[in-house]
Amino acid sequence: MVDLEIKIGGFTMKNPVSTASGTFGFGEEFIDFMDLNRLGGIFVKGLTLKNREGNPYPRMAETPSGMLNAVGLQNKGIDYFIKHTYPKIKHFDTQIIPNVNGATVEDYIAVTEKINEMDGIETIELNISCPNVKEGGMAFGVSCPSAVAVTEAVRKAYDKTLIVKLSPNVTDITEIAKGVEGAGADAVSLVNTFLGMAIDAKTRKPILSTVTGGLSGPAIKPIALRMVWQVYQAVNIPVIGMGGIMDATDAIEFMLAGSSAIQIGTANFMDPQVSIKVIDGIEAYCKENGFSAAKDLVGAMITD
Ligand SMILES: Cc1cc2nc3c(=O)[nH]c(=O)nc-3n(C[C@H](O)[C@H](O)[C@H](O)COP(=O)(O)O)c2cc1C
Repeated sequence: MVDLEIKIGGFTMKNPVSTASGTFGFGEEFIDFMDLNRLGGIFVKGLTLKNREGNPYPRMAETPSGMLNAVGLQNKGIDYFIKHTYPKIKHFDTQIIPNVNGATVEDYIAVTEKINEMDGIETIELNISCPNVKEGGMAFGVSCPSAVAVTEAVRKAYDKTLIVKLSPNVTDITEIAKGVEGAGADAVSLVNTFLGMAIDAKTRKPILSTVTGGLSGPAIKPIALRMVWQVYQAVNIPVIGMGGIMDATDAIEFMLAGSSAIQIGTANFMDPQVSIKVIDGIEAYCKENGFSAAKDLVGAMITD
């Protein structure tokens, strides 16, 4: 038997595999395709204080080895989540992790205060890294002082485990990671999407309505892996890694680089069952390689 349990700050996940925010809805959309009870966690779609329609279409574009999106945090707002969505998913035996967004620090605080009152939610992921909104979002995550300010403010409003999701669109991600650690984050998750764009040469127009969007999928994996490894060495809090994980081998690489847990995003669009396969693959790898616990993979890359 392999022990798959993972601890992130004060909360426990039964295995290291979760679905990434914005790529798995609220989990309810996948009930017919897979057993949600198998997942370590579901990082639900980005939540804001009020309803958001998101950006105009087109807001997705396929790229070699990845995709661009400019969804722009479409969601019905935190009150709708609490009243209508959470009751439908709360009975599943998996961690439900709200992904908190805002245009201002006050917005972030207001959303967090509402979640702080909820039963059964043990952690939030503070998204200071969305590249697809005009106000707030990534603006908070690309400068150290603003990343620290929003983390400090949310820390005061939230009693349980606080995960801060970092943007890769920075010169030195370790500086931001250390900043949010100092501001009270219990863990960091990385990476969000890389700012990119696509043009249709025939029409000479941009493909996305917003011109630029966020790149995800296998194309970003080597850069995400490098960032996870750098952040793992720079901070003393757990790192949750993601970016182009398509199978168990990718997930294991992220754990060897220092991820205590991993998230799967774009791969869900190709195979809704991918997370289950990754959980089984991590377990098989541990058995084959003499690891009695998945947590022993964390940072176990051999460098000499
Ligand atoms: C369509 C789409 C929507 C996303 N929405 C969110 C979001 O609401 N909040 C967030 O923190 N990240 C969001 N992300 C980023 C993912 O959670 C993840 O960080 C990123 O896609 C990298 O992982 P991947 O390469 O496995 O997809 C979104 C990504 C995609 C592709």
